[in-house]
Amino acid sequence: MQIYKNFDLKDYNSFGFNAVASNFAVITSEEELIELAQSNILDEMPRFILGGGSNVLFTQNFDGLIVHVKNKGIRILAEDNMHVTVSACSGESWEDFVDKMVSLNYGGIENLSLIPGFCGSSAVQNIGAYGVEVCNVIVAVSYYDLTDRTFKTINGSDCRYGYRDSIFKHELKNRAIITNVTFKLTKNHKLNTNYGALQSELAKKGISQPTIQDIATIIKNIRHSKLPDVKELGSAGSFFKNPYLEKSKFDRLKSEYPDLISFPVDQSSVKLAAGQLIDLCGWKGKVVEHVGVHDKQALILVHYGGGSGNEMVNLSNKIIDDVYQKFGVRLSPEVIFI
Ligand code: EPU
Repeated sequence: MQIYKNFDLKDYNSFGFNAVASNFAVITSEEELIELAQSNILDEMPRFILGGGSNVLFTQNFDGLIVHVKNKGIRILAEDNMHVTVSACSGESWEDFVDKMVSLNYGGIENLSLIPGFCGSSAVQNIGAYGVEVCNVIVAVSYYDLTDRTFKTINGSDCRYGYRDSIFKHELKNRAIITNVTFKLTKNHKLNTNYGALQSELAKKGISQPTIQDIATIIKNIRHSKLPDVKELGSAGSFFKNPYLEKSKFDRLKSEYPDLISFPVDQSSVKLAAGQLIDLCGWKGKVVEHVGVHDKQALILVHYGGGSGNEMVNLSNKIIDDVYQKFGVRLSPEVIFI
């Protein structure tokens, strides 16, 4: 196991902001994890567990230890006529994992094509897009528990999954180093084509019986048309979560803004589209020094280069204030501030 001192994090966050970690450990195997646990360094300083860095905002240098999990490997654990159970190591690229599963004709994650980040983080963040959340297919998550220094496995159903939420953001935060995620995928596909843009693309292409390959291709096209490529322009995908609102408050708001988009959550609440709220405040396409709001999707904040994490914090605070002033709705970041 290698621990680097004063490590530059620029290439380890998809915003591409400069920040330095005083200690940076790269973990490529369970043996290295044990080696790390047996050294004293974990008890000596604050720590942060970093996956692909596609959902973090470094606002300052990190005086502590960053544990970067980069273990690799994909294994089929079980298989029958209907299903296949596949385990992916945390450090596998999510994008490559989806492509591989789609190419093998294993269904369930095709709607989650082209999402940046690692397989391990997918289980923390409960990544979701185009009508599918990864928790639908996660059957187990294995991790190293830093509290009692043992390897453990938790069932997907015990991970307390919610919208962009899981046990790994609460009780197990900074305590669990995820090593593997196990997914149950289908051979007899159950496609999810409810998302409007997906349906209209299928209709446009005249595809009435899509394959999972068709869905993956269309999702990639939709994402390319709306979302910046993190290899070309720094971003962390959606910067804010879509906010929940009580139905009664929403009804009052809707009478003032009849075009407001909402998605039902339960009897008493709805989910609003944060991107639309930001857009209606006039922020779409705005540039403030080195950062700005993406011109095709107002939920994505972007870094044009040469800026700092604090510029992004200032921009996000201004957006939160404006949306609150106009709609009385407080946005909360999906991105994790460090
Ligand atoms: N909208 C606008 N203006 C904008 C952006 C959006 O009016 O600038 C409207 C759209 O027209 C649409 C609605 O808001 O009617 C929702 O927009 P979209 O379908 O683009 O999805 P979203 O709610 O903004 C969420 C996820 C995305 C995911 C998409 C597609 C969150 C925080 N974001 O975005 O996930 O790709 O749905 O399912 O839930 C991510 O988490 O990083 C991410 C990209």
